[in-house]
Amino acid sequence: MIVGFCNPLLDISVHVTKDFLDKHGLKENDAILTDEHGQAKLLQDLDPNTLLYSAGGAGQNAMRASQWLLPNGTVVFMGAVGGLLGVLDGVDGVDNVGSNTNADGFNVKELDKHGEILKHAAEGDGLRVEYEIILKKATGTCLCLLTPGHRSLVACLGAAVGFSPLHIDRHAQLIEKARAVYVSGFLLSDSHDAVDCLFSKHLVGEKEKLVYMNLSAPFVCQVFRERLEKCLPRVDVLFGNDSEALELARSAGFEEQQDIFKIVKELAKYKTMNKRIVVITRGPGSTLVVDETLTLHEIPVPLIPKEDIVDCNGAGDAFVGGFIAKHYSGASILDSVHVGHRVAQMIIRQSGIVFPTDERIDL
Ligand code: AP5
Repeated sequence: MIVGFCNPLLDISVHVTKDFLDKHGLKENDAILTDEHGQAKLLQDLDPNTLLYSAGGAGQNAMRASQWLLPNGTVVFMGAVGGLLGVLDGVDGVDNVGSNTNADGFNVKELDKHGEILKHAAEGDGLRVEYEIILKKATGTCLCLLTPGHRSLVACLGAAVGFSPLHIDRHAQLIEKARAVYVSGFLLSDSHDAVDCLFSKHLVGEKEKLVYMNLSAPFVCQVFRERLEKCLPRVDVLFGNDSEALELARSAGFEEQQDIFKIVKELAKYKTMNKRIVVITRGPGSTLVVDETLTLHEIPVPLIPKEDIVDCNGAGDAFVGGFIAKHYSGASILDSVHVGHRVAQMIIRQSGIVFPTDERIDL
C-alpha cells in the first residue's frame, strides 16, 4: 500500500494571455498561494464561461496516476477538505477511521460541493481517500492560468490548511501497514505540524518504508526550506523540477548555484542519512536522475509535436505518479522514469488531469 499526503484542491483552469499575467503581477510558470480575496480579484477579471472545473491538488493528482496503474486498493490519499455544517453524525466519536472524519472526531457525512467533486474523481480512478473534514471552511481551489506551453498556479488552500496531526495519528495503523508514503512539499506551507507528526512519530525507525517526497514549488524551497530540511534525512526519493532544484540550491547556498547537473548531484547528498535518489524533470528537456551510487543519468524525453500539446497542467504530477507506480512495483529507477514520461505525455495531450478507463499503460 502507498499512502499519499497533500492539499486536495479543485482546479479552475482557463486560457489567458501573457498581458493578463503581467497585469496581475504573475509569472508564466509559477505556483503561488493567495487567499479568497486574491483569487476573487482574478476571477472577476475572467469570463466565467471560459472556466473549466476539475479535480486537482498536486499530490492527489499523483496518487490518482499511481492508482490508475496499480491493482485496485493499492493507494490511499489524505488531505483536508470542507464539510457541510449541520450534518454531523456519530458524535460519540467511536472509531471513525475509514470514514471521513474531522479533527474533533466527528463523523461528517457530507463534503461540500467541491470536496464531492474531488472525492468523485479520486474514487473514479480507484483511489481511496481518507479526507479530514474541516467545517466552516470551503475546499481549496487552484486557479490554473494557462498560456501556450506554461501554467501559472494561484492556489487558495481553504479547508486544506486544517489538515492536522490528529488525523495522521488517527490513521496510524494505515500508515504503519503502508510500504511507501508520498509527501507533497506543498503541505509545508500550512500543514507542517501534520508533516512533522508524520516524520517524527510515524516514519521514525521505519527503515523499510519507502519515503517519496516532492519539492512541489520554488516558494516551498525558498520560504519553507527549514521545514523541508527537517524531512530530507528520511526521504529516499526526492522529486522536483529544475526551477525548484535551482531555488533550493540558491536558498541553501550550494557552491555551484547555476549548474543544474552539479546541483542535482548535490541534492542526493544534501541533509541525508541514507543514499537518496533524486529525480528532476525539465519539461521537454531530459530528466536528470542521481541513483544510489551517486551516478548522474540524463534520460531524454520523447519529443511531442507542439500542436499535440493541449494542457501542460499536471504533467509533473502525472510523471511522479507513473514513476512511483513502477518503482513501487520493484522496477529500476530508469524504467520508472520511462513510465513517468509516458503518463506525463498522455496527460499533456488532453485537457485536464483525466485517466482513461478504457486504456492502461502496462507496468
Ligand atoms: P503542476 O505544478 O502544474 O503540475 P505539475 O504536474 O507539478 O507541474 P508542471 O506541469 O509544470 O510540471 P513540472 O514542472 O513539475 O514538470 P515538467 O514540466 O518538468 O500542478 C498542477 C496541480 O498543482 C494542480 O492540480 C493544482 O491544484 C496543484 N497545486 C497548485 N498549488 C498547490 C498547493 N499549494 N497545494 C497542493 N496542490 C497545489 O514535466 C514533467 C514531464 O512531463 C516531463 O518529464 C516530460 O515527460 C513531460 N513534459 C512536460 N512538458 C513537455 C513537453 N513540452 N514535451 C514533451 N514532454 C513534456
